[in-house]
Amino acid sequence: MTRRGGLFITFEGTDGSGKTTQIRLLRERLMREGYEVVETAEPGGPPIGVQIRRILLDPANQELDPRAELLLYFASRAQNVAECIVPALKAGKVVVCDRFTDSTVVYQGAGRGLGQEVVEALHQVACGTLQPDITLYLDIDLETSLDRARQRNESQAGPAESRMDDQSVEFHRAVRDGYLKLAAREPGRVRVIDAGHDAATVEQAIWEQVAPLLETARVR
Ligand code: TMP
Repeated sequence: MTRRGGLFITFEGTDGSGKTTQIRLLRERLMREGYEVVETAEPGGPPIGVQIRRILLDPANQELDPRAELLLYFASRAQNVAECIVPALKAGKVVVCDRFTDSTVVYQGAGRGLGQEVVEALHQVACGTLQPDITLYLDIDLETSLDRARQRNESQAGPAESRMDDQSVEFHRAVRDGYLKLAAREPGRVRVIDAGHDAATVEQAIWEQVAPLLETARVR
């Protein structure tokens, strides 16, 4: 699955890190600047992915086996890559994806303890050689992250999407540590953004990372 052209941007972060707001702000700015933008999300994206998302995040599915969970995240990803991401990149668009394989590396690989190798092997199956051009990791301390995620679930989503948020504090700590290790391993691709600031400051920090790539990428 080779492709060139387009620009593939992914966002990562613990729940409540402000990804949703920042993805919207980046998309709006890119569109103002005249780029064609495709926004997608994982788990989710195309309708089949959205159906898989429901299974993954339903708090009723407490007995979901960690391996089944891992495969479902990749099932959603394979569909998103084939149906949405690769066609958009081939058409020279900017793709902004809320989470990608890095989420599986840290949540299932580190958080669930399934290890990095199995995640990398499944990435090959689901995505081939596709990798993000840049990954913006929105870093926030654990307490703020859990507080925001809880508030969000109570006010907007209701309990319907809370299965992952219901994990232990140790799980969420392992996830954040996993992200910081990942960023240290791949500093060229994974950029750490301090998401503890106000939205406008974070937006500007993100733009400073993305703008140089737009100049060199074959978009527009
Ligand atoms: P979201 O709330 O950012 O849409 O993400 C849904 C939840 O799914 C979130 O708790 C992170 C989790 N997740 C994984 O555990 N593994 C993955 O591969 C992905 C994409 C998300």
